[in-house]
Amino acid sequence: MARGSFVSLAILIDWIVLLLFCCKASLASNAAEAQALLRWKDSLGNQSILQSWDAPANANSSTLSPCQWRGITCDNAGNVTQINLPNVGLTGTLQYFDFSSLTNLLRLDLRENQLTGTIPSSIGTLYKLQYLDLATNFLYGTLPLSLANLTQAYELDFSRNNITGIIDPRLFPDGSAANKTGLVSLKNFLLQTTGLGGRIPEEIGNCKFLSLLALDENRFHGPIPSSLGNSSELTVLRLSNNLLSGNIPPNIGTLSKLTDLRLLTNQLSGFVPAELGNLSSLTVLHLAENKFTGHLPQQVCQGGKLVNFSAAFNNFSGPIPVSLKNCRTLYRVRLEHNKLSGFLEQDFGVYPNLTYIDLSFNRVRGELSPKWGECKNLTVLRVAGNLLGGKIPDEVVLLNQLRVIDLSSNQIFGELPAQLGKLSNLLVLNLQDNMLSGQVPVGIDGLSSLENLDLSLNMLSGPIPYQIGECSKLRFLSLGRNRLNGTIPYQIGNLVGLHDLLDLGYNLLSGGIPSQLAKLTSLAQLNLSHNNLSGSIPASLRNMLGLVAVNLSYNNLEGQLPDSSIFHLVEPNSYSNNRDLCGEVQGLRRCTTRANEKGGGDKKSKLVIIVASITSALFLSLALVGLIAFLHHRNSRNVSTPESRSRREIPLPIWFFKGKIAYGDIIEATKNFDDMYCIGEGGTGKVYKAEMSDGQVFAVKRLNYLVQDEEIETTKSFSNEVEALTELRHRNIVKLHGFCSQGRHAFLIYEFLERGSLAGMLSDEEGARELDWGKRIAVVKGIAHALSYMHHDCVPPIVHRDISSKNVLLNSELEAHVSDFGTARFLKPDSSNWTAIAGTYGYVAPELAYTMEVNEKSDVYSFGVLAFEVLMGKHPGELISCLRSSANQEIHFEDATDPRLSPPAERKAVDLLSCIINLARLCICVDPQSRPTMRTVSQLLEMKAAGSE
Ligand SMILES: *[C@@H]1O[C@H](CO)[C@@H](O)[C@H](O)[C@H]1NC(C)=O
Ligand SMILES: *[C@@H]1O[C@H](CO)[C@@H](O)[C@H](O)[C@H]1NC(C)=O
Ligand SMILES: *[C@@H]1O[C@H](CO)[C@@H](O)[C@H](O)[C@H]1NC(C)=O
Ligand SMILES: *[C@@H]1O[C@H](CO)[C@@H](O)[C@H](O)[C@H]1NC(C)=O
Ligand SMILES: *[C@@H]1O[C@H](CO)[C@@H](O)[C@H](O)[C@H]1NC(C)=O
Repeated sequence: MARGSFVSLAILIDWIVLLLFCCKASLASNAAEAQALLRWKDSLGNQSILQSWDAPANANSSTLSPCQWRGITCDNAGNVTQINLPNVGLTGTLQYFDFSSLTNLLRLDLRENQLTGTIPSSIGTLYKLQYLDLATNFLYGTLPLSLANLTQAYELDFSRNNITGIIDPRLFPDGSAANKTGLVSLKNFLLQTTGLGGRIPEEIGNCKFLSLLALDENRFHGPIPSSLGNSSELTVLRLSNNLLSGNIPPNIGTLSKLTDLRLLTNQLSGFVPAELGNLSSLTVLHLAENKFTGHLPQQVCQGGKLVNFSAAFNNFSGPIPVSLKNCRTLYRVRLEHNKLSGFLEQDFGVYPNLTYIDLSFNRVRGELSPKWGECKNLTVLRVAGNLLGGKIPDEVVLLNQLRVIDLSSNQIFGELPAQLGKLSNLLVLNLQDNMLSGQVPVGIDGLSSLENLDLSLNMLSGPIPYQIGECSKLRFLSLGRNRLNGTIPYQIGNLVGLHDLLDLGYNLLSGGIPSQLAKLTSLAQLNLSHNNLSGSIPASLRNMLGLVAVNLSYNNLEGQLPDSSIFHLVEPNSYSNNRDLCGEVQGLRRCTTRANEKGGGDKKSKLVIIVASITSALFLSLALVGLIAFLHHRNSRNVSTPESRSRREIPLPIWFFKGKIAYGDIIEATKNFDDMYCIGEGGTGKVYKAEMSDGQVFAVKRLNYLVQDEEIETTKSFSNEVEALTELRHRNIVKLHGFCSQGRHAFLIYEFLERGSLAGMLSDEEGARELDWGKRIAVVKGIAHALSYMHHDCVPPIVHRDISSKNVLLNSELEAHVSDFGTARFLKPDSSNWTAIAGTYGYVAPELAYTMEVNEKSDVYSFGVLAFEVLMGKHPGELISCLRSSANQEIHFEDATDPRLSPPAERKAVDLLSCIINLARLCICVDPQSRPTMRTVSQLLEMKAAGSE
């Protein structure tokens, strides 16, 4: 209806304008339009999609007609009125689009292409234009003020510009952000570096017929123009994911036709005008992720049509809007992370279509009432961190669509519903930190989809039902801090998918540790502490190769620790307060072998054993420096040879976890560091391959001979390396098994990686081909994960300082492992890090040339260079300076990919490779502040990979 009247008005204006000035063009008009279109086509380069845009050989310039061309629609007079070319892969800019020759255009739809550059101001000459859609391109710059001339427009869509090249918008469907902090910082990062920017021009209010205005996912800042209150025809206003600030203009509340208002993820503040409650047609209202304060509009569902409502992550206080109670149309509600108060059973009603509700981290009281059982479509129910009491009603467990229940950190009491097992679609059940009592129901095996079960911090008692072994999808299982008793059911060993955590700590469990737990080879954290477990630790647990942390303290365990590095590389006190455990770990006695019962072992151990102390890095490094100095001094004239090694010799300070390998074995395996065994050479020393007589293979890095005046340097570098490496455990970081110092020799014993360095692999024709696109993507991801771990998960963070293709090693599966932390040092957050320049030429961040301040961002730079290198198969060299000198320099895919491989066939690989190119480009920004963090890079790659599956 609105559209009809404005079309007729458009025609009227059209006629007046025509009568006034348009005489001279007359007959040749559509030829002129054709010429204008051809000029644009020519400016775009080769676009196969525009093949039909062609001047036939016999056509002269006055008879040329574009009306049959692809995407072009003409009116009866042969004038071009529509250009519809959505999603056809157009590249190039709008710079040569001669808008002033196409003034008959009513509709211009170029959405979902790869247009870049700015929107020319001459777009304002399309004074008849009704529909303009440039969404999902790579446009940047500001919105031209001349848009104010588009007074006939009813739809203007500029959403999602410039950012889709990096990030897939499907990753951010409203609210589905699993980890808000992570995703929001990513989004903000991307918004700040890309997209349309500037303010939203006040003049936009001239577009009086505007029905849809979409500017979402750009980087507009400043206020929402109050002139929008004049666009009384507005039904959809989408401004989400920008940097808008200030208040919502109250006259938005006068836009009575508004059905969809999205202001999500901006920096808007102040009170939300109560006038929004007047918007009786509203079906979608997104206010989440801003800085709003005060009350929510109480009449938000006055029209009884609200379907999607989010106000999460603000500072709203006061009551839950009264109009929500009878708002039966609700489908999705997100109010989490505010200070809203209310009563769950009084403020909420029955919502037959509700699929998702999150009220977490507010001040909601009351209890879950049985009527939630009538929300038959509910898939996600989160009310964590409130003040709920009461019991969990049986009706809730009959909601068979439920995927997530999170009621953690409330005061819910009573027993778990016996029918819990009926929730066969449930993925997450988090009831942590409540006051639940009684037993864990045996029917728990019905939770056949469950991945995450957290019942910790309750008062559950009785045994752990063995049926839990049937929940085969579990990745995370925490039953810690309850009063569970009985034995640990061996069936838990069947949960081979357990990945993140198995926590049974702080219970009353007794009996032995079942040896079947050894099947949990992917498990990262195991906590059985503070129970009454007895017997010995099954030796088979050494097969739990995924373990990163173990805590068995406060039990009655005895005997030997399993023979595996993880059981030795643990936090101190992980075994404390047991009956009688032994092993080579701080705080435990050494085990005595049968052959050598209570002999001189203890006496010797004072000299022989270097204790692994993970937390006390200071202790370690001091001990080490002292020891090296000591040994060096004592041994400086005593050149050891394989023959001369014996028990009487200087104690062998090998710190070792797997098996009994002695100093002499290393010397023997490398024939006293014969060059024949040398497999590489770095700044701090040569690397040798050492094959032990029992078949184990190690890479041994022998540090340069401790010459008097270099002594300090090498020692420092050595202890740095040990310190850093002993604390690092990650699948993409080379593992350090041990170290040794013996006068002439000081060496580190590493995991041996079969395929050598990435540099070697890429420089080799065959190796390069073997590293196909999939493997290269995985290599880049692996390095990103390793660096993200070092920068963000280690305390204090570790800066590598020498990332290069020589320092990335590959295993037999061609998985990347970052190695050589010789120059790594701890970066204490409060100290400035002025140190000598380290690093490999060609990878060193430019700022290190004039400042010596080292921080994570210099690793990010080196990573960027390395990522290009992995894709291109060689160091990017000049490409880097070229990209740096011009921000708008385009990279052609072919220029950034290795010509030795055939171009990737799958769309997914192309997507991921472009994503890597974009990210690498950001990483090599001259300004360190503009570089993303490694966490951002690693998360983006992860999400991109998941998203394109
Ligand atoms: C087509 O365009 C020409 C020039 O702009 C104009 O003179 C003519 O009236 C137009 N025809 C229609 C039907 O709008
Ligand atoms: C917008 O319209 C005004 C007057 O109507 C005109 O002077 C101006 O040139 C137009 N702007 C553009 C970019 O066409
Ligand atoms: C979410 O991500 C941020 C940043 O990556 C991290 O600090 C935080 O611990 C994560 N939170 C959860 C609950 O995973
Ligand atoms: C996005 O826009 C910015 C300028 O606003 C530009 O520097 C950047 O290269 C653009 N990114 C892409 C991927 O086009
Ligand atoms: C629930 O959704 C269906 C399908 O979308 C719709 O027809 C129905 O009217 C909705 N019910 C309510 C109460 O809104």
